[in-house]
Amino acid sequence: MNQKQQVGEKAASFIENNMTVGLGTGSTASYMVEALAKRVKEENLTIECVATSIATFNLAKSLGLNIKELSEVDEIDLTIDGADEVSPEFQGIKGGGAAHLFEKIVAVRSKKNIWIVDDSKLVDQLGAFPLPVEVVQFGSDYLYDYFAEKDYHPAFRLDETGEKLLTDSGNYVIDLALEKIENPQALAEELKAMVGVVEHGLFIDIVDQVIVGSSSGEVEIQSK
Ligand code: A5P
Repeated sequence: MNQKQQVGEKAASFIENNMTVGLGTGSTASYMVEALAKRVKEENLTIECVATSIATFNLAKSLGLNIKELSEVDEIDLTIDGADEVSPEFQGIKGGGAAHLFEKIVAVRSKKNIWIVDDSKLVDQLGAFPLPVEVVQFGSDYLYDYFAEKDYHPAFRLDETGEKLLTDSGNYVIDLALEKIENPQALAEELKAMVGVVEHGLFIDIVDQVIVGSSSGEVEIQSK
């Protein structure tokens, strides 16, 4: 079993009957969704889910999970999601799958957030993974130029046809190849304040627990 599957299954074991669960996006979160669907069937659990992307919504639906729109649920007990980088301070970069806007919307409405990662995602300092910034299409070239002037090394994310990738909300993603982010909080505030930026992939003070897989097969649970 690979590390992503291990941590996905471990996280699914934390879900309790009658919970409302936020389902993350990406390859690791998909294992968790599959493991949850299996548990729901085998243990006859009553679980309500919300998804963080159209892809996860479709996966959950295809597996028979009780999937709701965000507006249909009162509160989210637990959200389990992947991440692209996690620092020792439990700050993270997400959005490698361009889903960070919906992921953050669900995360901040959740009583508890767990990330599931393999140990290659643990870093001393954030930034080696390009930071995704979701921007509205209108005026996005100006934002790109501004990022370039600031030496943030921007690149529009492209889809498999070579066109600018569209998020689930119909926006573009500009990835910033920063290498090192000295002050994630300050950068988060700077990006958030920019007109045309919808959401960035810095997740600050959001996650409560990180489940880490390693090649030795051990799964470690790190708590804040
Ligand atoms: C989706 O936009 C991302 O935030 C994912 O959660 C993140 O990229 C982790 O994905 P993998 O589990 O596929 O590595």
